[in-house]
Amino acid sequence: MNVEIHIANSSFVSYSQEICDLIYESAQARGTGIAKRSAEYISEKIEAGKAVIALDGDKLVGFSYIETFSHQRFVANSGLVVHPDYRNQGLAKKIKRKIFDLSRKLYPNAKIFSITTGLAVMKMNTELGFKPVTFSELTDDEEFWNGCKGCRNYDILQRNSFKMCLCTGLLYDPKDPAAQKPSTFAKKVVKPVIKTRKPNKLYKK
Ligand SMILES: CC(C)(COP(=O)(O)OP(=O)(O)OC[C@H]1O[C@@H](n2cnc3c(N)ncnc32)[C@H](O)[C@@H]1OP(=O)(O)O)[C@@H](O)C(=O)NCCC(=O)NCCS
Repeated sequence: MNVEIHIANSSFVSYSQEICDLIYESAQARGTGIAKRSAEYISEKIEAGKAVIALDGDKLVGFSYIETFSHQRFVANSGLVVHPDYRNQGLAKKIKRKIFDLSRKLYPNAKIFSITTGLAVMKMNTELGFKPVTFSELTDDEEFWNGCKGCRNYDILQRNSFKMCLCTGLLYDPKDPAAQKPSTFAKKVVKPVIKTRKPNKLYKK
């Protein structure tokens, strides 16, 4: 494996359809809904340098892109995907780091957020300094929440007036001093909690 992670530019536009297919197929396999994006939308992100692409030679193996909401006060790192053959080797973590650094560079004052049900994303974002928050702390930009329409749990979100759902909200606030020491927090607090979790006694034979 000889994977290189690039900040995308127009020379990578030819991968747009393949990226859409990979995101779609991965969501299908996971059984989750997604904010479906067209190849044109992904091309725009690539051309604007608001995406990160991982290639093994010329084979597409990973991707993520940047979206902005609420007049660029909020940024989301979306569409994170790693090719199934390249998973569990730390590649998503490297892509996340790169797209996070790019987001900080392009939008230094913006809050960076995500909503997820995935443990992998929770772990990676926590290491970067994200904190769990209620949806009230996230963007109220309709464009973002419209992206949830493709999710199988959208009825739950609607029923709760967009205040809560099955996803956890995660937020990186550049003005929060605690966010500046993310890895210490993650290593000392989050990881030990995850690693020392014992099986539920109720289910013990
Ligand atoms: C989620 C995904 C991007 C992870 O990619 P990956 O390259 O395998 O992830 P990494 O190897 O970098 O692992 C990063 C961390 O997540 C953990 N992790 C990875 N996959 C996991 C899984 N399925 N369940 C729980 N934890 C997982 C790893 O153990 C690692 O944690 P650590 O730092 O404590 O060791 C990949 O499985 C994928 O593309 N899935 C389909 C698309 C998707 O779900 N995207 C996220 C949308 S919210």
